[in-house]
Amino acid sequence: MKIFLDTANIEEIKKAVSWGILDGVTTNPTLVSREGKVDFKTRVKEICEVVNGPVSAEVVSTNYDGMVNEAHELSKIAENVTIKIPMTKDGIKAVSTLSKEGIKTNVTLVFSANQAILAAKAGATFVSPFIGRLDDVGNDGVNVLADILEIYKTYGFKTEVIAASIRHPEHVRQVALLGVHIATIPFKVLQLLFEHPLTDKGLKRFLSDWEEYEKRISSAQHG
Ligand code: E4P
Repeated sequence: MKIFLDTANIEEIKKAVSWGILDGVTTNPTLVSREGKVDFKTRVKEICEVVNGPVSAEVVSTNYDGMVNEAHELSKIAENVTIKIPMTKDGIKAVSTLSKEGIKTNVTLVFSANQAILAAKAGATFVSPFIGRLDDVGNDGVNVLADILEIYKTYGFKTEVIAASIRHPEHVRQVALLGVHIATIPFKVLQLLFEHPLTDKGLKRFLSDWEEYEKRISSAQHG
């Protein structure tokens, strides 16, 4: 399973890169707006320079021409830019055009298996079902993701599935068990993946036993 970071924060991205576990980044207009006065294209360029993998940058136009124009502009920023396009009729039309041009796309705001079928038919590189937001409205996001994976497997669709809108480590475990291609994870959740109380307890014990051992050795040698 590839791990993407779901953020536009460059410090978070640099930290995850330094851990050697990052395969890509996804951003969206909300995440960019949280970064204050930063220029969007400048930030996308900065992210692309530090990440060795796909970086999703989202269009904000809602019509076909606007989306395609924005996609062309954004894809000039760096080779690893992926164009994130919302799941609408114009969006799917834009994805069809862009995929024929060899531009990588990520269909976002996907909430059903049927939407994911359309994204794959249009030739999307990635599709992003939002599991957390489905859970929020009383659906089972992980189940929707499981349906998408099964349908894609049945038909041999090449589109890679990104589990998006991940809210907690349990989501990560569940989507990994399903064999999802990619999980895009907020930094806060990524940090939680490191944690286990028995790791802390075990390390504390190892270090205190080592301290005792060193004391014994030193007193044996000196006295
Ligand atoms: C995915 O590409 C989106 O950026 C993201 O996962 C949305 O998550 P949210 O529901 O926590 O905003």
